Amino acid sequence: LARGTTAPDLGGRRVVVSAGGTREYLDPVRFLGNRSSGLQGYALARAAAARGAEVVLVAANVALPDPAGVKVVHVETTAQLRDEVVTAAGGADAVVMAAAPADFRPTSVSDAKIKKADDGSVPTIELAQNPDVLHEISHHRSRPDSVIVGFAAETGDATGSVLELAKAKLARKGCDLLVVNDVSGGAVFGSPDNEAVILAADGAAIDVPSGSKGALAHVIWDHVVARLPT
Ligand code: CTP
Ligand code: CA
Repeated sequence: LARGTTAPDLGGRRVVVSAGGTREYLDPVRFLGNRSSGLQGYALARAAAARGAEVVLVAANVALPDPAGVKVVHVETTAQLRDEVVTAAGGADAVVMAAAPADFRPTSVSDAKIKKADDGSVPTIELAQNPDVLHEISHHRSRPDSVIVGFAAETGDATGSVLELAKAKLARKGCDLLVVNDVSGGAVFGSPDNEAVILAADGAAIDVPSGSKGALAHVIWDHVVARLPT
């Protein structure tokens, strides 16, 4: 480990981390979901606990053991994740939104399993937009001096480069730090490694070279600690 990575510099702090990918049910057995493994969020929770924080980990649909010394709250949908994160964020020193909440949910959930029609007609899924948790907790802070961190996986598109899109997202969300993954070269999902740029609302941009998700977690906490009130 690098120098300082296990210093108890989060002692006496309460932090919240979200992890995993939410599921939005169509019927009792089917859902819309995504490929988030939860590995980065779990690494963040473990790193914070190792640095002395009291940690609440809101975990959506992960296949990972609960980390020792961390309070884990399991959820499935974005609505549940929103409620648990907002509750845990009340009075917290820092919140890191590493989860991948589904942006949309079916407007209705069928009580019974959806069946194929005899005439071969296919159902249409109507979607409604989910609450934006990061936007909500950043723009309605329970404490003005809390530090709020978002994540963004970007490919870049016709409207902007990865960094341009990320800067706009940081401003829109209203968080203090945005951890940006360039996923244009292929998926990082489930990989033990991660490479990122951390953008700060004050304009700083920190390159974090490829390394373990645990190493990136400690760099993220370094930048959170630097912004916490003394
Ligand atoms: N996020 C959130 N609530 C949502 C969607 C996203 O809190 N309903 C958080 C994620 O946890 C992440 C950050 O917002 O920390 C950025 O997620 P991303 O999916 O990149 O943002 P979106 O606003 O959904 O933008 P996009 O249209 O690019 O998906
Ligand atoms: Ca999204």
